[in-house]
Amino acid sequence: MFRPDLLARKRILITGGGTGLGKAMAGRFLELGATVFICGRREDVLKQTASELSASTNGEVCALPCDVRNRDAVENMVDSIWRSGALDVLVNNAAGNFIARTEELSPRAWESVIGIVLMGTLHCTLACGRRWLKSKHRGTLLSISATYAPVGSAYVVPSAVSKAGVEALTRSLAVEWGNRGIRMNAIAPGPIRTQGAFSRVLPRPELEALAQDRNPMHRFGTTEELANLAAFLVSDGSGYINGEVIRMDGGEFLQGAGEFSSLGRVLRQEDWEALKPRKKS
Ligand code: HXC
Ligand code: NAP
Repeated sequence: MFRPDLLARKRILITGGGTGLGKAMAGRFLELGATVFICGRREDVLKQTASELSASTNGEVCALPCDVRNRDAVENMVDSIWRSGALDVLVNNAAGNFIARTEELSPRAWESVIGIVLMGTLHCTLACGRRWLKSKHRGTLLSISATYAPVGSAYVVPSAVSKAGVEALTRSLAVEWGNRGIRMNAIAPGPIRTQGAFSRVLPRPELEALAQDRNPMHRFGTTEELANLAAFLVSDGSGYINGEVIRMDGGEFLQGAGEFSSLGRVLRQEDWEALKPRKKS
C-alpha cells in the first residue's frame, strides 16, 4: 500500500507500544523505515515485543519502560530519547479502560483511567511539544481516541471523559501549534480485536457477538487497517491534515445515529414489497 521508505529517517515514540494496536503500529512503521521507541509499564512485555519486531522487520526498535501517568518519568524517558536525536512523531496510544456501572466506581478507579488516558497523553504531548517548539523541529502527533468520545458512552465513563479531553487537546493544539511546524490528529477506531481491549470491554462472547452484529459490515476492524491509517497520518504525505479525528469503524457510529438505520434488520423482502405503492388498475 505504501512505498517501503515512507517513514525512513522518522523517529517515532508509541506509548503502549508493547501490545495490541500499539504493537501493530510499531511493526508497520518499522517496515516503512522508521526508528521506533515503545513504552509501557511492563518491561518484560516491551522487551519481548522489541525483539520480536526487530527480528521480523530488521528495523531498529527500542523498549523504554515508563508509566505515562508520572510526569517526571515521561520527562526522563523523552530526555533519554532526545540524547540520541529529536523525535519526529509521537503516538499517544496507551490507555486503560473497563466496563462498570458509574455509580460504583471508586475514586482510584476514576484516577486510574483518567491518569493514563488524559493525563498520560498530556504529559507526553507537552514533553515532546515543548522540545519541538524550543528547537523549531517539525513534529507530528497522533492520538488514538474512541468513537464514543464526542457523544459519550454509558459504562465506560472514565474513558469517555478522558478521550473527549484528548480530542479537545488535539483540536486545540492543532491551531495553537500549527503555525510552528507541529501537526496533530487522532484516530477513533471501532472495535478491533486485541487481548487488552476485548478482555476488559467485551469480556463475554455475547457482548462480542452484539458488537459485531450492530456493525454495518458485521465484522471488527483489523490491526493492519489501523496501522495503515496511522502510517498515512504520521507521514509527510498527509501534511495538510491537522486537527482532525478520523473515525475508522466500518460505519458503526453512523449506524447508531441514523433514525431508520435498523429497518434493514427488521423488515423482510415481503415487507418491502408491501410498502411499494400499489399499481393503479
Ligand atoms: C471497577 C475497577 C475495575 C473494574 C479496576 N478497577 N478494574 N473498578 N470495575 N473492572 C479499580 C480498582 O478496584 C482500583 O480501585 C482502581 O480501579 C485501580 O485499579 P488497579 O488494578 O490498581 O490499577 P492499575 O493496575 O493501574 O490498572 C489500570 C486499569 C487496568 C485501567 C484498571 O485495566 C489496566 O492496566 N489497563 C491497561 C490496558 C487497557 O485497559 N486496555 C484496554 C484499552 S481499550 P480501588 O478503589 O479498588 O483501589 C479502550 C477502548 C476500547 O480503551 C473501545 C472498544 C470499542
Ligand atoms: P492494549 O493492548 O491494552 O493497549 C494498551 C497499552 O497501554 C498497553 O500496552 C499498556 O501496557 C499500555 N499502558 C497502560 N497503562 C499505561 C501507563 N500508565 N503507562 C504506559 N503505558 C500504559 O489495548 P489496545 O486495544 O491495543 O488499545 C490501544 C489504544 O486503542 C488505546 O488508546 C485504546 O483506547 C484504543 N482503542 C482500542 C480499541 C479496540 O477495539 N482495540 C477501540 C477503540 C480505541 P502496560 O500495561 O505494560 O503499561
